[in-house]
Amino acid sequence: MSLSSIDADYLRTVVMRNSGNRFDPARDYLFESRLQRIVRNCGMQSLDELVRALRSESGSTLEHSVAEAMTINETSFFRDTASFDLLREELLPALIAARRNTRTLRFWSAASSSGQEAWSLAMLLREHFPALASWKIDILGTDISAEMVTRSSSGCYQRMEINRGLPARFLLKYMVRTGDEWEVSPDLRRMCRFQQRNLCDTPPTQERFDVILLRNVMIYFPPETRRKVLLTMHRSLAPDGMLFLGLSEQARMDSHWQTVLTAKAVWYRPLPVS
Ligand SMILES: C[S@@+](CC[C@H](N)C(=O)[O-])C[C@H]1O[C@@H](n2cnc3c(N)ncnc32)[C@H](O)[C@@H]1O
Repeated sequence: MSLSSIDADYLRTVVMRNSGNRFDPARDYLFESRLQRIVRNCGMQSLDELVRALRSESGSTLEHSVAEAMTINETSFFRDTASFDLLREELLPALIAARRNTRTLRFWSAASSSGQEAWSLAMLLREHFPALASWKIDILGTDISAEMVTRSSSGCYQRMEINRGLPARFLLKYMVRTGDEWEVSPDLRRMCRFQQRNLCDTPPTQERFDVILLRNVMIYFPPETRRKVLLTMHRSLAPDGMLFLGLSEQARMDSHWQTVLTAKAVWYRPLPVS
């Protein structure tokens, strides 16, 4: 039996409340397939039963599981290459010069999905900035989905994922074959860590990053949530740091940000708040 429109409305509310994601009603059919695993794992018989359980325990871990299951985790290595090119050619050389005394660089891949964005950054740094080998490099990947965080931390990828964006020479240099999969090298592993975090929540600690990649997630948030998340990003960036959004998210930013348009890509500089 298919989901009633009232139940679909309710599931959309659950998703919004727990992840801030607007779920397009045209994609309601995805509830059936995406939530089957939760139905099975909870020993339930149907999606109706799951909806009934959700209605009786709002704010529960079950709600979080539903919101996580409905996230869209599309990603790839070196996605939207232009941003990585801009970092490599212009922004990182200047940033490295500015950090020559502290010899520390911090990156945040916010909404890192299965981790390819964070590992791409690590490869880019190792490949093009060998002098950083003696620096402290911290690349934090965070995502609301526990499953994605586990996958990212494993650093293991299947051939199909490797084929999406990872140059062959990087594969040979930075990954090791383990059975049917490829695993990131121990050297890259030392640079990256992954945590489960909801971008709608206030970060647990006041960390400052030099570069934040917040790509292809703001499209799912309503305007008010976008504003709130951008405020978190502003607080989390070093004064000379830089923020990247996804290609389709080149937002009209508020007065806290300067939009920097280059021939290659767009990035955002935090402005002092008076
Ligand atoms: C389309 S992927 C983008 C991955 C990567 N940033 C990229 O550009 O390739 C969107 C990711 O955002 C995550 N996400 C959605 N809502 C979130 C939230 N409120 N907090 C943290 N992550 C969220 C999803 O779990 C998903 O992995």
